[in-house]
Amino acid sequence: MNPAQRAADLYRATFGEAPLRIATAPGRVNLIGEHVDYHGGHVLPVATAERTAVAVGPAAGGFAAVSEHGERFDGPWPIRERREGWSDYVAGVAALLASEARTPAAARAAGLGVAVASDLPLGAGVSSSAALEVGAAAAFAALWEQYPEPRALARLAHRAETEFVGVPCGIMDQLASAAAPAGSALLINCRTLEMRAVRLAVDLVLVESGEPRSLRGGAYADRRREGEEALALLRAEWPALERLVDVPPARLGALAARLPEPLGRRVRHVVNENQRAVLAAGVLENGDPAAFGALVNASHHSLRDLYQCSTPRLDAIVEAARAVPRVLGARLVGAGWGGSVLVVAEQGAGGPVAAHLRGDVALALPAVRIVAPGSGVELVS
Ligand code: GLA
Repeated sequence: MNPAQRAADLYRATFGEAPLRIATAPGRVNLIGEHVDYHGGHVLPVATAERTAVAVGPAAGGFAAVSEHGERFDGPWPIRERREGWSDYVAGVAALLASEARTPAAARAAGLGVAVASDLPLGAGVSSSAALEVGAAAAFAALWEQYPEPRALARLAHRAETEFVGVPCGIMDQLASAAAPAGSALLINCRTLEMRAVRLAVDLVLVESGEPRSLRGGAYADRRREGEEALALLRAEWPALERLVDVPPARLGALAARLPEPLGRRVRHVVNENQRAVLAAGVLENGDPAAFGALVNASHHSLRDLYQCSTPRLDAIVEAARAVPRVLGARLVGAGWGGSVLVVAEQGAGGPVAAHLRGDVALALPAVRIVAPGSGVELVS
């Protein structure tokens, strides 16, 4: 059964009636452009084929959320506070949307029931949280007779994560989940939110490291703070500098050298990674997969040495993957500090490459998946 059917069944079993609306949304795998979204840089994600389904309806009294993993949260409606659990991602979206003037007052009066089912792995760096938020945003919006366009849905989902859940993430994951075109990657300018579909002529393999990660940990917030510090120092000399990604590559060496470490390293990563993402879209469009693989490799080196968000295990997986025949490049994917490695293979080689990695006894990888690019959020009913 697909997640939408499972979510509908779970809703019925829990609340004794059919859900009124169901939406499904994908996770994302970012091909390149890591740790640049919150600096207004470029990213190149694909949506996962695996999706999270959110079934909603006006359940009798209160706010109740259930997931097929058996966890249930009950609270007052309208929502007043966080519960410190997965339901916060859903509750945050519901609370924000309910507070908007165009949401009918009747929505705030009735209770709210939510049932969630998902095929996405948790903690694997594919942003199951964005899938949950974006799926919830589309389902609640439809329940309350609103049909926001993908950018607006992504903004709502992003606000739920930053303002309600309290994770200081960028907007890449929510935009990818809301707007990814079927079967293609999406080049996103995270400052202007302009987007362009980019066709892929490579195979993608996602390798889970088994090291779980969560953005609630402090390292991600530390990197954001370092970026702000670096920007403030650069602005002291160059007041017109708006964002770190505006540092021209030709001036990067001299400017970064004047910053205290680790800030210099962080800025070098951000500026170069943003360039790499734009270049990557270009080489893919020009049919040069080998050049794409080289950019992916350079991205990993930069994340490891300059942004310092890799782990010995991620580095070992990257090295092992690069030695597999027909692999073009490999790098850690998502925020880092655990999660997954993305392996880029020649077109048609994804199956054999995945089989090879699964057979690597020394690495003992918990999961190796072919990434079949999916598409953005959908209202099922
Ligand atoms: C996490 C965040 C994103 C982005 C990546 C790193 O996935 O949610 O906004 O910053 O890390 O590129």
